[in-house]
Amino acid sequence: MVNASQRLPSNGRLSGKIYRLLTVLVNKSRSETKNRLSCPLIHFENVGLRYGMGPEILRDLTFDIPKKSFQFLTGPSGAGKTSLLRLLFMSLQPTRGLIRMFGRDISEIPRSELPLLRRRVGIVFQDFRLLDHLTTYENVALPLRVRGKEESSYKTDVLELLKWVGLGERINVLPPVLSGGEKQRAAIARALMDRPEVLLADEPTGNVDPPMARRLLNLFLELNRLGTAVVIATHDLALMEQVEARRMILSGGHLDIYD
Ligand SMILES: Nc1ncnc2c1ncn2[C@@H]1O[C@H](COP(=O)(O)OP(=O)(O)OP(=O)(O)O)[C@@H](O)[C@H]1O
Ligand SMILES: [Mg+2]
Repeated sequence: MVNASQRLPSNGRLSGKIYRLLTVLVNKSRSETKNRLSCPLIHFENVGLRYGMGPEILRDLTFDIPKKSFQFLTGPSGAGKTSLLRLLFMSLQPTRGLIRMFGRDISEIPRSELPLLRRRVGIVFQDFRLLDHLTTYENVALPLRVRGKEESSYKTDVLELLKWVGLGERINVLPPVLSGGEKQRAAIARALMDRPEVLLADEPTGNVDPPMARRLLNLFLELNRLGTAVVIATHDLALMEQVEARRMILSGGHLDIYD
């Protein structure tokens, strides 16, 4: 067992280059938020969620995601992990309760401002959501391209990150040709390029073998050590056993937290 604030001394060791890249990515986002460091990044108060006229699937959730925190979100299939991540990503509105993101009540934020706020949250979807007509490289670079960044300013970083997640040979391949695990790694790399303050990952090790799972976990831990809050939704007990971290357990619509 290691503490979430420590680096895993394993085969997933980060190279000097990737370490530098992560440091640059996180420091950029940190300096942008220097002035907002006093409140938790995310605050939920008595939050409930139902889809349409269905039953309430999340009930009375009250918790904080503190800055620089690392937590696993777990619970049986259908417990609402993905739904909770969607609330955290602001792609769903709660049906009751208060959600404060970066100090702001999201019910008071105009819809037009949400995309800007959402950029501060990186997400790796359970179903990857890569664009099939773009290559692996283009998918990962997309967040920077849509912001109008010059390719010369990010190309080396994208290639380095892709190499580190084991996709160095797959940069020019389209997603339909990638395996599930390869798509997953591309989706993780894309979420990291967006320099998030909070990284949400939905079953990020669901399609990879144990050594790669450990490597990805190491990447999440390193990001966290550099200051990014991380929430990993997972069923993977072996993964959770590797790190002594906060556990958020969803069951029957309720959330229990073990710090
Ligand atoms: N768009 C939707 N419309 C209606 N019901 C939904 C929708 N998305 C999810 N649900 C329901 O909400 C509940 C929680 O689903 P969710 O996908 O959040 O669970 P999960 O914990 O992520 O499950 P898994 O471990 O299988 O990924 C389930 O009963 C599901 O059927
Ligand atoms: Mg899910």
